[in-house]
Amino acid sequence: MPRLTIAIDGPAGSGKSTVARRVAALLGYLYLDSGAMYRAVALKALEREVPLADDAALTALTRDTHIELLPPTPDQDAAGLKNRVLLDGREVTTEIRTPAVAQAASRLATVGPVREILVAEQQRAGQGGGVVMEGRDIGTIVFPRADLKIFLEAAPETRAERRWKEHEEKDEHLSLEEVLAEVRERDQRDRERKVSPLIRAADAILVDNTAMDIEETSRLIVFLADEKLRTLAS
Ligand code: CDP
Ligand code: CDP
Repeated sequence: MPRLTIAIDGPAGSGKSTVARRVAALLGYLYLDSGAMYRAVALKALEREVPLADDAALTALTRDTHIELLPPTPDQDAAGLKNRVLLDGREVTTEIRTPAVAQAASRLATVGPVREILVAEQQRAGQGGGVVMEGRDIGTIVFPRADLKIFLEAAPETRAERRWKEHEEKDEHLSLEEVLAEVRERDQRDRERKVSPLIRAADAILVDNTAMDIEETSRLIVFLADEKLRTLAS
């Protein structure tokens, strides 16, 4: 049976990581979180105090960085972590999940040469199919010929509430307004940037999961993948 390449794109908190990981598990595919790569480089930039306005320095930093995405350990899996992330060999799986790193990642992600380096890595990691990759430009730039493209959406208030709940569970007490503002600001930057903005590819299927849970959304995507496999077989 052929092994599909599935691209899932969408804004922050739309459910990409959770749903992509579940879809990959149901199909026995590899799950890859491209956003974790932007977050890992952003963390390194913050730690080294590289100015986030200095495109050349950010590009040099990215070129000099090695990121590995691995399946989570059983403990990490139980804690809801979806990919293990190693930055130059150091575990940064939880450190990259802060609002400050998210903001820095979305600034870093506006730099064209940085994207070129990370996109090449993502294409290498996903070559051969049997992969569910999620991000902002997977269906448009990373795998424009993906077998199945999903654009995952949800209302901004719902997305912010989901993120807020995650922070609460980690004992990080932010206000819902603060989280909504962070999500809105990042969405706007991601949608309006010149290079590879967040847009729905013409052949991507729009799935609005505002009123759908993780399992329903994942099963819908698996159904679409099965349909695709049937078409390929006929
Ligand atoms: O990766 P992305 O930012 O798009 O979203 P996520 O990290 O997968 O999902 C954000 C939160 O929303 C997680 O805690 C999910 O469990 C939750 N979620 C949900 O409650 N219902 C959905 N249909 C999808 C995600
Ligand atoms: O989990 P969440 O949706 O909040 O963010 P993420 O997927 O971890 O991505 C963090 C940031 O990296 C995004 O706000 C984008 O600016 C950037 N990103 C991107 O530009 N292209 C991708 N393929 C993935 C992430």
